[in-house]
Amino acid sequence: MTAPSTEALHQPEPVEGRLLRNVCGLFVTGVTVITSGAEGSSEGTTVNSFTSVSLDPPLVLFCLHKESRLRAVVDESGSFVVNFLSGPQEPLARAFAGRGTAAITDVKHHRSADGMPVLSDALAFLACRLVSEFDGGDHTIFLGQVVELGVPREHQEPLIFFRGSLGALEEEPRGVHPIFDG
Ligand SMILES: Cc1cc2nc3c(=O)[nH]c(=O)nc-3n(C[C@H](O)[C@H](O)[C@H](O)COP(=O)(O)O)c2cc1C
Repeated sequence: MTAPSTEALHQPEPVEGRLLRNVCGLFVTGVTVITSGAEGSSEGTTVNSFTSVSLDPPLVLFCLHKESRLRAVVDESGSFVVNFLSGPQEPLARAFAGRGTAAITDVKHHRSADGMPVLSDALAFLACRLVSEFDGGDHTIFLGQVVELGVPREHQEPLIFFRGSLGALEEEPRGVHPIFDG
């Protein structure tokens, strides 16, 4: 009997975008909706390229496709909110992942101190002021300073994205001590 192959897929240079997306889909992430814009010009887009960057100063980043509607709105307002979605918010993730679909006004929301839309039923939110933008190929990397944050309810399960699919995290990882530093 031969051992199952541990190398079912291998692509040397040049790397194809479709395969890169499939392989990156094996890196499990949470799902956010990035919102921005004052009342009357608010927009939201589903994004999983969120990363926390620095605690002092408090910085986070996300990557946005250069064609995204949200790009001009973030540039104009100089602010954005990262809304972490909860398991039951899968329909919201889908609604904000298509062009010209969901409107912020159709979703329960309130305003941050800076006047940006916060999705009221999200798992948590980080309201940020735009610090810098970096070129990232067909995406722009937005770096923001966190100026306000909140967790409306304790112990909601997150929405996760893995292998191209959305779903609630059914079981929290166990058997390890929580890592709060680093
Ligand atoms: C789970 C998930 C994660 C996504 N992550 C990103 C992302 O990190 N950056 C991005 O530009 N688009 C991302 N998208 C695609 C955008 O949501 C979608 O292309 C966009 O909403 C359509 O263009 P718009 O921004 O003009 O609305 C993601 C979509 C899904 C379903």
